[in-house]
Amino acid sequence: MIPTSDGPAVVPSQVIRDIEELREEIRRHDQLYYTLDRPEISDTEYDRLFRRLEELEAQYPQVISPDSPTQRVGGKPLEKFEEHKHAMPMMSLSNAFDEPELYEFDARIGRALGRSNQIEYVIEPKLDGVAIELVYENGLLAIASTRGDGYTGEDVTSNIRTVKAIPLRLRAAGIFTNAPVIDVRGEVFMLRDEFARLNAARDEEGLPPFANPRNATAGSVRQLDPRTTAKRPLKFFAYGVGRVEAPLPEGQWDLLHGLHDLGLPVNLANSRLCRHTQDRTSIEVALEHFRQLEKIRHDLPYEIDGAVVKVNSLEAQTILGVKTRSPRWAVAFKFEPVQAITRILRIEIGVGRTGALTPVAVMEPVSVGGVTISRATLHNQDEIDRKDVREGDTVVIQRAGDVIPEVVSVVKDRRPDNGKPYTIPDECPVCGSHAVRPEGQVAKRCVNVSCPARLKETIRHFAARDAMDIEGLGVKLVEQLVDRNLVKDAADLYYLDEQTLAGLERMASKSASNLLDAIYGSRSVRVDRFLFALGIPLVGEHVARVLIEEFGDLDALTSAAPEELREVRGIGPEVAQSVANFFREPRNGEMIRRLLAAGIKPAPLEPVSPGPETPFSGKTVLFTGSISISRADAKKAVERLGGKVAGSVSRNTDYVVAGEDPGSKLDKAKDLGVVVLSESEFREMAGL
Ligand code: IVH
Repeated sequence: MIPTSDGPAVVPSQVIRDIEELREEIRRHDQLYYTLDRPEISDTEYDRLFRRLEELEAQYPQVISPDSPTQRVGGKPLEKFEEHKHAMPMMSLSNAFDEPELYEFDARIGRALGRSNQIEYVIEPKLDGVAIELVYENGLLAIASTRGDGYTGEDVTSNIRTVKAIPLRLRAAGIFTNAPVIDVRGEVFMLRDEFARLNAARDEEGLPPFANPRNATAGSVRQLDPRTTAKRPLKFFAYGVGRVEAPLPEGQWDLLHGLHDLGLPVNLANSRLCRHTQDRTSIEVALEHFRQLEKIRHDLPYEIDGAVVKVNSLEAQTILGVKTRSPRWAVAFKFEPVQAITRILRIEIGVGRTGALTPVAVMEPVSVGGVTISRATLHNQDEIDRKDVREGDTVVIQRAGDVIPEVVSVVKDRRPDNGKPYTIPDECPVCGSHAVRPEGQVAKRCVNVSCPARLKETIRHFAARDAMDIEGLGVKLVEQLVDRNLVKDAADLYYLDEQTLAGLERMASKSASNLLDAIYGSRSVRVDRFLFALGIPLVGEHVARVLIEEFGDLDALTSAAPEELREVRGIGPEVAQSVANFFREPRNGEMIRRLLAAGIKPAPLEPVSPGPETPFSGKTVLFTGSISISRADAKKAVERLGGKVAGSVSRNTDYVVAGEDPGSKLDKAKDLGVVVLSESEFREMAGL
């Protein structure tokens, strides 16, 4: 990318001017083509300009700069992606699946803002691709990263630079002109027909096809060699911002135009600003546009799976604030799922991490909305009975977005004469132990805690990318390790040696040593991922993070009483019980002890980058007793100032605000030495 050999000592100033002009000309045509969708020249003419620039740069390599249009593909293949911490977390969206849910969203916002029917919304198509953040510094693309867990993603800059729709240099136009830093958020995706062409080409090369454009996009973005990515037909639409070092506009609608003015592609053509009219509320206007999008979705050159409805006013967005994973000011409104008809060949039983026996329908392959499906979950016995699903039945199946395909109903008049009702067996299909259905639960479970199927799933989960991220520990390997009794729990992984590993099938000594490196490398895991990796029933990534945010570290969590766990916001009684049960089991305690003894050092959560410094930045506040403003308003105030509100006192609590008749939490706070504030002190600090 950067020249290594020098060209002629002096570059004539006319050449420099020519080169600059050519670059500007090419950038302008890129923008006309990708952002404005109105090319002015033919491909041949464009290629001519491009070649001319390449020739001049080859002659005078010392003038090559990283933002030159010729410098999109460069650098060597990477060993692995570096991490990139987002300056502001990349959130996801909560969903609305039908009209009542959309109206409920609108009503909630009306209540929170204290006015109704006059809230402006922006509705945008929801593209089905991969979310990307582009950091532009002084107008130049500096870093591009994936969403990852929302806080930290992967640095995929060299791949994203190859996407022609993404400018390497922003134009100086519109409201964001000359912003020193702007983090642009958007979706990388693939056009339907280009996806089909890519798959046809793969087929000719004997490579497996991608299941859908989104998988193809995700695979392309995560290539270690940018030259491969460069060959993939990726496109981009920007839809938002993270950190911006420039004044913000009033609303999302102006923001989209601001991004467009910078030369970024924005899907303005299919987005609308929705204002109320005499006879319709703004949400009704949004709904009408949604129905319109639903009608044209199959005519669009790319896949969309719904629309995103956002409160237009950025000020209102700030007041509404965010939940843990998604903002309160936006909602993804999904299209109806796509359905198809096929036949069930047989019903198989899978055994999960918790021993739950899950019936799966194995079907004649069928295409549902462009994706071939041959398996669908039947959930459990109750669902099978309710729908009366039998082997040999013809069934309607559906797929909604990312959700696992499911059987909706049986076409009864096509049932074969010999069809018999299906019952999940009383034995585990893997270890033969009894399978029982505990009182009050829907799933039948294998009672054998050491059932190899359970253990395999547990280990796979432990090693998964979003958990300990042990690369190279795939399904086949886990099977061998468990079947040969080499691994009886997750901790055993850290006590394997190279010789043992090299003795396994399809394992050479090189791959054995790589795997050991990956296993050892995983020891510096972040604490919430470690907690998630343990595979505690009902503890997903999100719950794991919430628990760690509340208790600070694993030690505090393992010794928490079920009541304390229940008091945590967002943690229900079942989750609390499940966590307490897990840590109470001596075998689990022993496993954690061995994991830590093997050198696992769970790293603390990194604090999320704060906005401007305030008395509550990064602080955890707890309210007890009654104060004169509502708890909801008090909470909003703390969150607006960069703090968070906890439900229980721990060593991580910074302030306890004690109102009238405080509860036992005040005593506990005093015991722990937490700073206690009166209501008036709190109000003063919060500027209320
Ligand atoms: S806004 C805080 N707008 O949908 C708001 N997202 O679950 C976050 N997406 O990961 C996103 N089109 O990749 C937004 N017009 C749009 C979008 C969009 C697609 C994706 C995005 C995000 C996911 C949300």
